[in-house]
Amino acid sequence: MEAKLDAIYTSTEKEISSAAGLDDLEALRVRVLGRKGELTQILRSLGSSSPEDRARIGQKSNAIKEKIEALLEARKNQLLNSRINSLVEEEWIDVTLNPRELTIPPRRGHLHPLSLLQYEIEDILGSMGFAILDGPETENDYYNFEALNIPPHHPARDMQDTFWTEDGNLLRTHTSAIQIRGMERVKPPFRMAGPGRVFRYEATDASHEHTFYQIEGMMVDREISVSHLIYVMKQVLAGIFKREVEVRLRPSYYPFVEPGFDLDFRCMICGGGGCAVCKHVGWIEFLGCGLVHPNVLAKGGIDPEQWSGFAFGMGLNRLIMMQYGIKDIRHFQSGDLRFVHQF
Ligand code: FA5
Repeated sequence: MEAKLDAIYTSTEKEISSAAGLDDLEALRVRVLGRKGELTQILRSLGSSSPEDRARIGQKSNAIKEKIEALLEARKNQLLNSRINSLVEEEWIDVTLNPRELTIPPRRGHLHPLSLLQYEIEDILGSMGFAILDGPETENDYYNFEALNIPPHHPARDMQDTFWTEDGNLLRTHTSAIQIRGMERVKPPFRMAGPGRVFRYEATDASHEHTFYQIEGMMVDREISVSHLIYVMKQVLAGIFKREVEVRLRPSYYPFVEPGFDLDFRCMICGGGGCAVCKHVGWIEFLGCGLVHPNVLAKGGIDPEQWSGFAFGMGLNRLIMMQYGIKDIRHFQSGDLRFVHQF
């Protein structure tokens, strides 16, 4: 029995030192020390031996078991270390490597399509003398509603569902809020534009977002008329589409302008014949606009008897959707780089 134990130890020791991987090691452990393993069988058979044999052989078996366990553990650590070392050799990254030496060219970051369009429109308006202004995204009731001729409880508040903050402020629902702040800073005559992110407490779908981008424009001077408005709008559209664009006005209601309009442009895809992009009407709704309401001029500290103006507010997301045939507005904020990299 003792000779058998010695033989098991010798052959196991040899196999452990030549085991090529962790799987081999585990198979060996099961074969020798497992429930039906060679050593376990010997220990089990001791029940029928004399008490002296049992004590002596039991002690020797346990000692061999402990030695084999220690050898298994040592070899396991050895194999793990050499695996880690070879991974370190194979998978290291040289962070100091010049990107030009990489075989796969690195992807460059670039501007989001909304920024690209915003900057393009800013350039067009800037070339016509419009100053670009900024305003806060968290606004107060006064700038977003009241100064725009929408007093508390006015039904027009329901036209723009609002995110209110706990302290009674709000996330601006439109860039028209920038108008009033602009009028407080600049004296007429002036031309100004205010781009930015706006928020509405709306359920989202393929053409409605709770967070989207607008650009507001405003011009105040002596005897400003709808013709000035139409001229500037046509220049903006010609700048975006790089050709002359036909426009039309439809009467519409916005409390801060009088008269108010929705401005459409002739569909650039079908030329007015009707297609899926213009929903077969030949025209595409572009923006809301009108002549600035005297109450709004007065709130901005401008005498409506002396000065008049036009204002417009356009949404950027839907314009890009039309330009590129994007079917769902929610792509813009999805964070999906596959979408952004197309621009
Ligand atoms: C306004 O926001 C007015 N402030 C525009 C204006 C300015 C009118 C100055 C007159 C004078 P409206 O709610 O229609 O209007 O929004 C303007 C544009 O924002 C729309 O034409 C549309 O392009 C975009 N828009 C509105 N709601 C959403 C929405 N939920 N998701 C995406 N775009 C939207």
